[in-house]
Amino acid sequence: MLRIGLLTSGGDCQALNATMRGVVKGLANNVKDLEVYGFMNGYKGLIYGDYRMLTSKDFSGILTRGGTILGTSRQPFKLMREPDANGLNKVEAMTQTYHKLRLDCLVILGGNGTQKTANLLREEGLNILHLPKTIDNDIWGTDMTFGFYSAVNIATDAIDCIHTTASSHQRVFIVEVMGHKVGWLTLYAGIASGADVILIPEIPYDIDKVVAAIEKRSRNGSGFTILAVAEGAIAKEDAALPKKELKKKMEANAKKYPSVSYKIAKEIEEKTGMEIRVTVPGHTQRGGSPCPYDRVLSTRIGSEAAQLIMDKEYGYMVGIINGKIKKVPLESCAGKLKMVAPDDQVVQDAKRIGISFGD
Ligand code: F6P
Repeated sequence: MLRIGLLTSGGDCQALNATMRGVVKGLANNVKDLEVYGFMNGYKGLIYGDYRMLTSKDFSGILTRGGTILGTSRQPFKLMREPDANGLNKVEAMTQTYHKLRLDCLVILGGNGTQKTANLLREEGLNILHLPKTIDNDIWGTDMTFGFYSAVNIATDAIDCIHTTASSHQRVFIVEVMGHKVGWLTLYAGIASGADVILIPEIPYDIDKVVAAIEKRSRNGSGFTILAVAEGAIAKEDAALPKKELKKKMEANAKKYPSVSYKIAKEIEEKTGMEIRVTVPGHTQRGGSPCPYDRVLSTRIGSEAAQLIMDKEYGYMVGIINGKIKKVPLESCAGKLKMVAPDDQVVQDAKRIGISFGD
C-alpha cells in the first residue's frame, strides 16, 4: 500500500489541479494499492486533520480547471513555530496528522513561503516533495513555475486591450501587474504586449526618466504611452531609504493612493499635464484555465513527482532546468528568491529596442 498526501498552499494559480492530476495519474497507472489524502485549505488541513480521501476519479477532467480542488490559504512561515489561538503547536500537529495517516509522502504545491514550511517539515523527518507554483516565477532553483505563463497571457491580454483604446485617446495608460517583490510577470507581459515603459521592483525608477520616455514618444509623434508597472515598483529615492523609514513612507502612501500606479500617475500628470488612466487587472491574473505551456509543465512536474515517490526519493522540489525536469534538494532552494537581475539578458534585449525601465 502506498499512501500519499496532497496539499495546495498560498495564493492559488492556474495548473494546481493539472499538477495534482499528473501526480495521481502517474501513481495510479503504476502502483497497485494507492491511497490519496487531500488536505483542505493548505497547511490548515494538515494542522487540524481536515482531509478527504480521494480516488483517481477525483483527478479526472481537471487538467483545464483553474483554482484548486483542495482549496488553499495563506499560513505564514514565520508563524508556523508560534502556537495557534488555542495554544496548539502547529508543527507537532502537522507531523502527528502525517504519522497518524501513515503517509509515505506528502506532496506540497506552493510558492516561496509554502516551500519554507515544506523544508521545515522535511527537517522534522517527514517525506516531502515540493512542486513550484506561482504566477510570480520567483522560486529559486527552477527556470519556470507553473502558473507563470498563464498569468503572462492574461496580463498581456489586458495590456493589448488597453493598447487599442490608448491609441484612440492619446493618453498615458498604466497597467498594474501582480508582483510585490519580483518583476518577472511585468517584464514578460510588458514585452509581450509592446509596453513602452516597464517598471519592476528590482530596477528602481526615476520619475523624471519615466516622464522623459513619455515626452520622447510625444515628440516622435506617438500621442499615447503604455506603462506596465509591477505592484512592487519603487522609486529610486525610496529604494535608498533605511528599512524603517521606507516602511513609514509606504504606510503614508497607502493612505493616499490605492496602489503604486496611482502615485506614479499623479506624478506624471503633475509633470506633463497629460491625462493618465490606471488599470489594475488584479486577481484575474491568477484565474481561469492554465495555458497549454502550463498544462504541459505541470503534467511533467506531477508525473516526475510520481516517479520520485515510486523510487522513494524525498526531500526535493521538482523543477525545470534547461527544458529538463529536475529534482532540486529542498534545503538548497528554500528561503531563496529568484529575482530579475537588472542586467538580465531579457532586460537588456528590451532596453535595446527602446523600452524604458525608468533607470
Ligand atoms: O504570490 C502571488 C501573488 O499573486 C502576488 O503576485 C500578489 O502580489 C499576491 O499574490 C497577492 O496576494 P493575495 O491573493 O493574498 O492578495
